[in-house]
Amino acid sequence: MSTASTAKLKEQFDAGLETRADFTIDQPLERYGTVDHAVWQQLYARQTALLEGRACDEFLAGVERIGLPSERVPCFDDVNAKLTPATGWRIVAVPGLVPDQVFFEHLANRRFPVTWWMRRPDQVDYLQEPDCFHDLFGHVPLLINPVFADYMHAYGRAALAANEAGALPLLARLYWYTVEFGLIRDAASSNGVKIYGAGIVSSKAETVYSQQSAAPNRLGFALERVMRTRYRIDTFQQTYFVIDDFAQLFRVAQTDFAPLLTQLANAPAYAAGDVLDGDRVITRGTRQGWHTSGDV
Ligand SMILES: [Fe+2]
Repeated sequence: MSTASTAKLKEQFDAGLETRADFTIDQPLERYGTVDHAVWQQLYARQTALLEGRACDEFLAGVERIGLPSERVPCFDDVNAKLTPATGWRIVAVPGLVPDQVFFEHLANRRFPVTWWMRRPDQVDYLQEPDCFHDLFGHVPLLINPVFADYMHAYGRAALAANEAGALPLLARLYWYTVEFGLIRDAASSNGVKIYGAGIVSSKAETVYSQQSAAPNRLGFALERVMRTRYRIDTFQQTYFVIDDFAQLFRVAQTDFAPLLTQLANAPAYAAGDVLDGDRVITRGTRQGWHTSGDV
């Protein structure tokens, strides 16, 4: 965890919320004030308008099915009343980022940790760490999609195993390039791609950049390629990987990761902006505005 997120986590612990051993808390509904609800309302209105025609159909359908409120921070129990009967997933409130092992144990048990607090009004455009809007609006609509729900569950189990085997970076890249920053092919879109990653759908600027900018690469998804590719946490992505459909993720979820982790253990990683022979290039980026160092 970064220093900033550690500080935030400490702040939340210091706020006196009783935190269980699995880092969950009861969502402190009484702590949301007028400003929190107004920030949710502003972000919800802005992103739902922007995502029409840009986010994939499955994401937009998920927003509808869960029935997230537009004008106030959602009550997590209300979300679960729709989500759990559909796919067995439920969201649990947490103070902020939780340790990797704890996070993956939640995923492997179909629980998605959602940060309870909302960003401040001056953080509407950018916030490095996840808040309630990112975690809930960004991640939860696809958890009501059965195929994506199974992918996330399988991912959690694979990441637990990888963490215990000391191979977490390989699985972290898969999460980053699919769950957080994934694009999906869609012939109905002007440039042939739409958005499903939570880091994109919860960000106005990256929504526009990921779909419309000429700067980044957009490459066809390939599992081993993704697992070997470093990424950026400080700027827009240099490369987005594009899945054909959610069935492709479902097939990824069936992968026996153990031999793959062994095989890739000593394989060199690629830079975030590399385009390789053998890549399925959908658009080759102009690299405009890229920094040459800083990959994670
Ligand atoms: Fe996220």
